[in-house]
Order: sequence, then C-alpha cells, then structure tokens
Amino acid sequence: MKKKILITGGAGFIGSHVIRLFVNKYPNYEIINLDALTYAGNLENLCDVDSKPNYSFIKGDITDLEFVTNLFNKYKFDGVLHLAAESHVDRSISDPLAFINTNILGTVNLLNAAKEVWKDEMSDKKFYHISTDEVYGSLGITGKFTETTSYDPRSPYSASKASSDHLVRAYFHTYKLPVVISNCSNNYGANQFPEKLIPLVINNIKHSKTLPIYGKGDNIRDWLFVEDHALAIDKIYHEGKVGETYNIGGNNEWTNIDLVKKLCDIMDKKLDQAIGTSQKLISFVKDRAGHDMRYAIDASKIEKELGWKPSIKFEEGFEQTIDWYLENTEWSDHILSGDYEKYYEKQYKNR
Ligand code: NAD
Ligand code: TYD
Repeated sequence: MKKKILITGGAGFIGSHVIRLFVNKYPNYEIINLDALTYAGNLENLCDVDSKPNYSFIKGDITDLEFVTNLFNKYKFDGVLHLAAESHVDRSISDPLAFINTNILGTVNLLNAAKEVWKDEMSDKKFYHISTDEVYGSLGITGKFTETTSYDPRSPYSASKASSDHLVRAYFHTYKLPVVISNCSNNYGANQFPEKLIPLVINNIKHSKTLPIYGKGDNIRDWLFVEDHALAIDKIYHEGKVGETYNIGGNNEWTNIDLVKKLCDIMDKKLDQAIGTSQKLISFVKDRAGHDMRYAIDASKIEKELGWKPSIKFEEGFEQTIDWYLENTEWSDHILSGDYEKYYEKQYKNR
C-alpha cells in the first residue's frame, strides 16, 4: 500500500516547492495537498505536478475542526508535513486574530486529528511541523540562534508560530505523538507572494515604483534558497529523530539595504538600463512596529546529524530567482490583480 502523506499549505510559496520535490521523488507516496487557498495560496504554483498520479489537491481550512477530523478519518495519513500558516509579519500587525486562528487553532486541530487516528499505532507515523527562526526573537550584532535558544517572539506572527511549536512539543511529551520541528531562516525563490521583500522589490523595479525600505535598512536577515529548504524538509521528514528540533539556515546574512542595492544592480543589468537607475527608486519609510533587528541561524546540528547544508550559492540562487520573476510575468500579473493591490495601497499609504 502506498504511504499517504498530507502536506498542508502546499499551494503557498514553500509548500509548493515541497510538493514538487515529494511528488517527483517519491512516486510510491500518495501526496495530498490540503490548502484553503487564501490570498497566499495559488494553484498555478503547481501546474507542472497537478496531473501526476500520486498527487491530489483538497481545498479546506485547518481551522475547521469537523472538516479536519473527517479528512484524517477518511485518509488515515501515514505522515503530515504542516506548512499551512498565515506568514506575513506586516499582516499580523494589522490583523493578529487571523494568525491566532490559523497558526495556533489550526495546528491544534491537526494535532488532535493525528493523535486520534494514530492512537493504536504511532511507531511508523510522523507529524512534521515547519516553523520559523522568528520564534527566537531578535539578535544584536553577534551570536546565532541554536535549537536551545529560549523563545522570545516579538510579533503576532512569531508569537503565533512559537505557540504552535510549544503545542507540538506538548503533544510529543504528553501523548507521545511522533513529532519533529524545524525552524528556518528567511527563504527566497520562485513563487513567493510579492508582499515579501525580495519579490516586492523586483516587482516594483519592473513597474518603476518606489522601493520601500523600513527604518534605516540596517536590519539583518539570513537568506536561504527555497529549494534548499525543501531538501532540508525532505531530510528531516525521513531521517529526523522524533521529538527533535532542527534549525535550518543559509549562513548568508544581509542588511536589507545591501540586499536591495544588490538586487537593484542586477535588475539594471537584466533590464538593460544604466547601473544606478533602480537604486534611485529606494525610499526609506516608517519602520515596521517592533521590527526585529537581526536573525541568524546556527545550522550545525542538521549539518552534523543529517548531513544537510545549503547546496546553492547565494549569487546563483539570487540570479535564478530574479530571472524567474522576469520570465513569469503572467504569474505576477494574476497575483497583482485582486487582494494584493488593495493590501499594498493600505499598507504603504501613510509610510
Ligand atoms: P505562504 O503564506 O506563502 O503560504 C501559506 C499557505 O497556507 C497558503 O497556500 C495558504 O493558502 C495556506 N493557508 C493559510 N491559512 C490556511 C488555513 N486556515 N487552512 C489551510 N491552508 C491555509 O507561506 P510560506 O512562506 O510558504 O511559509 C510556509 C510555512 O513555512 C509557514 O508555516 C511559515 O511559518 C514557515 N516559514 C516560512 C519562511 C519564509 O521565509 N517564507 C521561513 C521559515 C518558515
Ligand atoms: P519580509 O520579507 O517581510 O520577511 P520577515 O519580516 O519575515 O523577515 O521582510 C524582510 C525584511 O525586509 C524585514 O527586515 C522587513 C524588511 N522590509 C522592508 O524594509 N520593506 C518592505 O516593504 C518589506 C515587505 C520588508
């Protein structure tokens, strides 16, 4: 019998890369993608795999307990990779409740359903919760987050993810649910919704719009190519030890302003315009409330224990990403109509 694997949030940015990897690499798995198709979910991200025999899509909301319970009873999944979430910090500042509902209640619904359906036999099952480095809080100039760094979330988004991480661990300790957790740094790559820094800047340069940099642009993020994150998720799902947490990072820190300037210069070359043209669009705007200063991941545990490290050099992944957004104009155009335009207006109006 084929193993049935549930992947939640598979129509989103990272989820779609995980689905593609699993569907192509594991023909002997039945991959079920559960996604509510919020503004961030886009089935166009999966058009190259949606006709594969080992893939199916179910539209549904993880906050709907009855739906989730019925789904687990029907499919009796062998494993769960849980990526569905509200994921954008700025949206969490204007609408925290949506994050509490999906990220906390939605996760608990999945945990309860898995606990119930696996109650007689948990030994070959796995519930893998995909989380963020933002749960650890904000760093100064030195130091890195390790798996034992105390949680110190500071935005409604990171607080909701931290809460879900705690609940996942509580189900391991209390009910012996076979869980594993990973906390990853900022991802970049194809199919990322253009509310996040990199696709937003690419898109604004394309349309000669200003590039909004929060505060002084000196906040630091550790960027990882999304396909490398998907490979880490594959390793952890198959080889990660139950009850453990693994940090995933790119060892690739950039201040926002340096990253955006680099992006501007590459875009100038690609668009055949004088170097400096795009940088003129940079505009320093009002800072994000509670803006975390620096994130940096110590990923030595996953490297030592599971043999994973980033495979793609930043220069290569970054260029590949920019090319993808320049080539896939139809994808961007579809997203840019509708919710995103309204969100953009509201978010940047008074900055
Ligand atoms: P995303 O916002 O691009 O995608 C989230 C997906 O979840 C969407 O397809 C959306 O439709 C779906 N979803 C939202 N609410 C749902 C609900 N109630 N029921 C069912 N589906 C729902 O997010 P992403 O950037 O791909 O992040 C995926 C996961 O990885 C999240 O858990 C996030 O916290 C984590 N993460 C993201 C990053 C990053 O840099 N993007 C870094 C580390 C960890
Ligand atoms: P983002 O892509 O939203 O990811 P996160 O907040 O989860 O790290 O933002 C990355 C960094 O870029 C973060 O420090 C905030 C900053 N930023 C801007 O300066 N301007 C923007 O318009 C956005 C969306 C982000």
